[in-house]
Amino acid sequence: MTKKLTRREALKVVSKSVILPVSGTQLLAKPSKLSPQFMHGVASGDPDQSSVVIWTRVSTVDESIIVNWFVATDAAFTQGVKRGQFATDKSRDYTVKIVATDLEPGVTYFYKFEVKGAISPIGQTKTLPTGHVEQLGLAIATCSNYPFGYFNAYDAIAKDPTIDMVVHLGDYIYEYSTDGYGGETGKRLGRNHLPSHEILSLDDYRMRHAQYKTDKGSIAMHARHPLIVIWDDHETANNPWKEGALNHQANEGDWYARRAASLQAYYEWLPIRDPANSKDRSKYWRHYKFGDLASLITLESRHTGRNKQISYDEHLPTIKNKEQAKQFLHDVIEAPNRNMLSEEMQAFLKTELKESVSSGRKWRIIGNQSVIAKSIAPNLDEPVFSDFINTSSDDYTKKSLEQRTQLGKFELPSDLDSWSGYPDARERFYQIAKDAGANDLLVVSGDSHSYWQNVLFDANEQSMGVELGSTGISSPRSIMSAGADIMKRYDELNTAKNKEIVWSDGRHRGFIRLQINHSGAHADYMTVSNVETLKYNSKIIHSVNIVNTEGSLTYK
Ligand SMILES: [Fe+2]
Repeated sequence: MTKKLTRREALKVVSKSVILPVSGTQLLAKPSKLSPQFMHGVASGDPDQSSVVIWTRVSTVDESIIVNWFVATDAAFTQGVKRGQFATDKSRDYTVKIVATDLEPGVTYFYKFEVKGAISPIGQTKTLPTGHVEQLGLAIATCSNYPFGYFNAYDAIAKDPTIDMVVHLGDYIYEYSTDGYGGETGKRLGRNHLPSHEILSLDDYRMRHAQYKTDKGSIAMHARHPLIVIWDDHETANNPWKEGALNHQANEGDWYARRAASLQAYYEWLPIRDPANSKDRSKYWRHYKFGDLASLITLESRHTGRNKQISYDEHLPTIKNKEQAKQFLHDVIEAPNRNMLSEEMQAFLKTELKESVSSGRKWRIIGNQSVIAKSIAPNLDEPVFSDFINTSSDDYTKKSLEQRTQLGKFELPSDLDSWSGYPDARERFYQIAKDAGANDLLVVSGDSHSYWQNVLFDANEQSMGVELGSTGISSPRSIMSAGADIMKRYDELNTAKNKEIVWSDGRHRGFIRLQINHSGAHADYMTVSNVETLKYNSKIIHSVNIVNTEGSLTYK
C-alpha cells in the first residue's frame, strides 16, 4: 500500500524527495492541459544510466507545498515505476527537482506532478544507454533571448522524433533590462523582459528564469526531451571572467554576490543535479556516456578559470599599423598563462578523455561555450561595407563594422571573448586531448549567434577534429541590422580568410540536428523562418557528414 506522508513529515524533507511504493493503479491516470498550478511546464535533464532529474515549478504562492511526482514507462501511467512526494517552498522559489533513481539504462520514461488535485503536463525523458548503441540524435541549441522573439526553434526540436536529447550550450536567459540588447524588438513583440531592469538579485534572476519558461516553444521542448545544459555568460552577465564581468559595474554591488544569486536561480530553475556542496555551484562540468558510441564532455569556461577578456576598445586606438598589431598579438593576446579553464576543469577533462578513449567509444563530443576555431577578421575594404558605415544612422552597427574593418586591416582576431582571445589556453586544451589520445574532438559551440562548420588544428598544424557552431534560438548576430547582403558578404570573406572556417552563416536562427552512429555523423543546420510570430517553417539550410577514421575526423 502507498504510504501518504503527513504534511509535517513531508516538510521535514524540504529539497529532498521521498520515494513511495508504486502501483500502476494508484497513479493519477488522467493527463490534463497546462494547469494554472504548473505555468512553467515540466522539464527533465542531466541524465545518467540509472537516473534523471525531473523538474517542475508550482505557480501558486503558498507557504509550503507538497507535490506528488510519478514516473512510468507509458504515457497513460499504467506502468508506474517510481513515485514520491517533494516539499517545496519560497526558499527554493517553489521549484521542484527530483533525481529519479533506480531506472533502467536507455529507456524512455514519462513523468508528471500533482498538487492539490491539479496535474502537470506529462513529460517524456530518457536515461543514458549502456552497451552497444546504434544511433544517437542530439539537438544543439544556444542563445535563447526572450525579447528578440519566440523560441520557435525549441518548438521544432520538440516536434523532431529523431532527437534523443537536447544539448543547450548556454545563454539560456539574458540579463538585460527592457532598454538593453533586444529591448526594441521586445517592445514591438510584447515580449519585454521581466523584471524591466537589469537583473542583479536572486529575486531578479528567478523572475527572469520564470519568464523564459513561459515561452510556448520552451514548454514544448522541455516536456518532450531531456536537457543537457551548460551556462555561458548571460546566465549571469555579459562576458564574465573569474573575478568580474564586462556587464557588471561597481554600482551594481558585489560581483560574487551577484554571481551566487544567478547560479542559485540557475540550479533552482534548470533540471540539473545540485552540487554535493552548494558553495561550489560554479564547478559545473559533466561526462555523459552513450554506451560504446559517444562521450559528451561539457566545459565550464566562464566562472572558474577564465582570465579577463582583452578589450579592443582599450587597445585598438593605440595600434596604428600592422607592425604594432603584430606586437600586440604577440605580447598581449598570445601571452602565456591566460586561462579559459580552471586547473580542476582541465584535470577532469584529462581523466575523462582518457577514459573515453580507453573505453573504445567511437566519438568524443565537447560541449563548449564560445567558438574555438582560429578566426582572424577578414579585410572589409569593399564599398558594401564603407557605404553602410558612411550612410547608416545605426550607430551600434556602424561602430561594430568600423571596428571589424580596423581588425581586418591589421589581421587581428575578430572576437576576443572566444577562444581566439585565449590562444595559449586553446593550445593547452588541445594538449590535454593529445595526451589522452583524443585528436578526434567533435566540438559543439554556442555564443556567436552564427552557424559554423569548422576544422580544428593545433599550433603545429596537427588536426584536432571539427567544430559545429550553432546559431541563436532567437538571438541575432550583432551586425544583423546591417542587412542580409552585408552579413552574407562578411561570411564569405571570413570563410575565405580563415583556414579553419569551412562554412558560416549569421543570417538565420535555429539549431543543429546531429545524428551519430558508428560509421559517421551527420549534422543538419536547421533554421526557422521566423521568430516574430508563432507561425514558422523549419528547414535545413546546410548539411555535413563527418567520418572518424582511425582517430581523425574529416568532412565527407
Ligand atoms: Fe548569446
